[in-house]
Amino acid sequence: MTARLEEAVVAANELIAAGVYRLVIHAPRMAAAAQPGQFVHLKVNNLTAPLLRRPISIADTDQSAGTLDLIYRIVGGGTAFLSGVPVGEHLDCLGPLGKGFALECERPLLVGGGMGLAPLVYLAKALCPRPITVLMGGRTKDELFWEDVFAPVCDQLRLTTDDGTAGTRGYTVDVLPELIKTGNFDQVYTCGPRPMMEQAARIAKQYNIACQVSLEEYMACGLGGCLACSCAGTDGKRRKVCTEGPVFQAGEVFGGC
Ligand code: FES
Repeated sequence: MTARLEEAVVAANELIAAGVYRLVIHAPRMAAAAQPGQFVHLKVNNLTAPLLRRPISIADTDQSAGTLDLIYRIVGGGTAFLSGVPVGEHLDCLGPLGKGFALECERPLLVGGGMGLAPLVYLAKALCPRPITVLMGGRTKDELFWEDVFAPVCDQLRLTTDDGTAGTRGYTVDVLPELIKTGNFDQVYTCGPRPMMEQAARIAKQYNIACQVSLEEYMACGLGGCLACSCAGTDGKRRKVCTEGPVFQAGEVFGGC
């Protein structure tokens, strides 16, 4: 599907956790085309960076309403500006962009950390009615508002927090081997901090389970024209995360996977 510019209209922009917002935009063509794992590139017209776009993962779509859900955390001036955009405002939106997740599997295991959980929400919905297990991690329980988001669409939910305030104390990858042994999984999907994804992919490889990873890189054009997002592939070639990803087979970008 070719990426297109669409004038999106803000239908909601609400605080859902500390520093985290759910933005709903009305963009019917984009909602009809979007696949799990893809992203949109929003132009944020703040005065300090008027030309820059911000890549944001698609966290859900409602094709009948013609809307997309985007969940973002305030991390700088652009997203801070975005958090103040009111309902009814128009946003210049490019998308859907990138290559999303391949859905061929029977027993998926989703492993996410922090804001990397956002694209996994849409993925989980697309994988229904297959039995879905989600392993999610955060620094503290306040970051795991995702539990309520995933509960309606998954069969098994495991939590970890760095400080032990919810679920198992530690990291997702600490409990991943034990979880894999209990589940007969045939596909791991992971998105979050790069060290977490690399380790999750290595563990999946140990158990002969295919693994797809969704990378996050700085982006400029979003269309494959500037190389700002390129990363090293395991074959020695550079990969454009915006067009060849953000989803890759783990072995394409992580050595030993
Ligand atoms: Fe320009 Fe990917 S952001 S090539």
